[in-house]
Amino acid sequence: MNIKLNKIARDTNFFLKKFIAKQNNSKLIPAMNYGLFPGGKKIRSKILIDIGSLLSIDYKTLIAIGAAVECIHAYSLIHDDLPCMDNDKIRRGKPSTHIKFGESTAVLAGNSLLTMAFEILASPSLKIKKKIQINLIKKLSECSGHLGIAGGQYLDLSYEKKKISKNKIIEMEIKKTGKLFSFCCVAPLIVANKYNKINKFKKIGEKIGLLFQIADDLIDFSGSTKLAGKKTRKDQAKGKATLISLLGYQNTIKYSKKLKLSIFNEINKYQKRSSDLKETIEFILKRAK
Ligand code: IPE
Ligand code: IPE
Ligand code: MG
Ligand code: MG
Ligand code: MG
Repeated sequence: MNIKLNKIARDTNFFLKKFIAKQNNSKLIPAMNYGLFPGGKKIRSKILIDIGSLLSIDYKTLIAIGAAVECIHAYSLIHDDLPCMDNDKIRRGKPSTHIKFGESTAVLAGNSLLTMAFEILASPSLKIKKKIQINLIKKLSECSGHLGIAGGQYLDLSYEKKKISKNKIIEMEIKKTGKLFSFCCVAPLIVANKYNKINKFKKIGEKIGLLFQIADDLIDFSGSTKLAGKKTRKDQAKGKATLISLLGYQNTIKYSKKLKLSIFNEINKYQKRSSDLKETIEFILKRAK
């Protein structure tokens, strides 16, 4: 799994470096690069490639779409760490972007990465039909805006120090994290023009993203700052509404195992061909970072 992730990370970073190098220089590029490279696990790109290979989609196209996703993800992390949001000083084992470059530069570098994602999807380096490019852009904007990441982040902050129901916590985690995973599951279907399966894969993606966020919450609760590359044991201090704060640690582990099995049930019919995707889902729960 790590070998596969490392290859995807290398190929994605190579694509992004080339893409940025082709643009005119600007004073924001150092902060954008800082948030993007060396970068994180590239787990979203891995899901995109696992599903894309089920549909025999060209690897280079998947890497380009994954690069757009990683720009959105990197932007969301830069903003997530800002003092007005989670106020975190360490990210990916180094000082957060606003600590290194200042708040206003971090906000603007985040904005620039967000918009660069759509530039990538609209660029001719994606050798796919224009109609498909437009549909990818439409889907990625839906997953990033007020019904996706931004909306979920709003809920996450507004739920702090409040008693929130299980369903509301799940809805918030699906928005802030699940929607981008859902894009990764749906994008290959858009490229393959297989619209009849979109709803099914949208739901599978939301469940995988929910599982990912629950695992992140578990890492915050019991993981090591050194391994995670970000400060752990912060959610409780901030009064974040998580399944752990509502149900307790052990019950959340039980919930995550059930959720994993329910995802497996939905992909079992792809049998052997789904083995990479299953391996990625196992990794999501077992990881320490
Ligand atoms: C962290 O995401 C933020 C969440 C959505 C939980 P990742 O754990 O994928 O971050 P990197 O990219 O590997 O640093
Ligand atoms: C962040 O969730 C989700 C995003 C959309 C960025 P967290 O706030 O739990 O992510 P970490 O723990 O800071 O990486
Ligand atoms: Mg947060
Ligand atoms: Mg955070
Ligand atoms: Mg977290």
